[in-house]
Amino acid sequence: MSHGRIRKAVFPVAGLGTRFLPATKTVPKEMLPIIDRPLIQYAVDEAIEAGCDTLVFVTNRYKHAVADYFDKAYELEQKLERAGKAEQLELVRNVLPEGVRAVFVTQAEALGLGHAVLCARPIVGDEPFAVLLPDDLIWNRGAGALKQMADAAQASGASVIAVEDVPAESTGSYGIVATDTFDGRQGRIRRIVEKPAPADAPSNLAVVGRYVLSPRIFELLEAVTPGAGGEIQLTDAIAALLAEAPVYAYRFQGTRFDCGTHIGLIEATIRYALDHEKLSDPARDMMQRALGELGVRERD
Ligand code: G1P
Repeated sequence: MSHGRIRKAVFPVAGLGTRFLPATKTVPKEMLPIIDRPLIQYAVDEAIEAGCDTLVFVTNRYKHAVADYFDKAYELEQKLERAGKAEQLELVRNVLPEGVRAVFVTQAEALGLGHAVLCARPIVGDEPFAVLLPDDLIWNRGAGALKQMADAAQASGASVIAVEDVPAESTGSYGIVATDTFDGRQGRIRRIVEKPAPADAPSNLAVVGRYVLSPRIFELLEAVTPGAGGEIQLTDAIAALLAEAPVYAYRFQGTRFDCGTHIGLIEATIRYALDHEKLSDPARDMMQRALGELGVRERD
């Protein structure tokens, strides 16, 4: 596989978000905000920074909010313009910058992540592409995780998957890889297993929700049968790809927050607040006060 720039990014956003019920009764989990931007916006910005200009959202029939969010809001823009609110107007316009297009594909049945990615095939076609799982929010001062990976993929011409070390007891929540020794940031993957119990895990190197994949993955996905959890797993198609072509595990620079969990979403909010131009000081004061009050109560 030879790589030019990665132009297309797939966002599987058809999940039900049951962990965040009742909020997710009406608000898709990808629309939950960190400060003032929905989770999906962080993933979209990361894809655009990496060079993508075609964003493919794989949604279900309940996720109108995601499509509405990326639609042009003429009335709102007009109102902001008339009111002279240039800064807010810019924020609204930059949800989807000029030259970037959003395409929506429906996943009729929740058959798994692999199946969701396969739904994007008619739009992606025969070129390498990115997959971003918006639950995994990656914070970095320098280049975003996908940009780092796209550069590595372009240099090697291979598929690249983001990984990070997780505690041994957490392997059951992730795809886990075994690799050759790492050369700088990456190592060739020899094995990949979806959500193994700690005793069966080949390592504690976990797959994080960023992938740069060869289009060959679509053919392999067609052949995948239901795996872990009875779902069509992307991991199983990647396991098949390993037998044919190099796939690299890439230890990105940055901090990942698992915003698919309550504590991860809280942690991300705190971190972004502490790094925020205007919120940093008040957030710090507020946290100190809150911890102080708790301390007093604990001593009572
Ligand atoms: C998916 C993948 C898993 C990966 C994880 C990263 O699992 O199947 O291999 O480690 O994303 O977030 P999910 O979290 O959707 O169950």
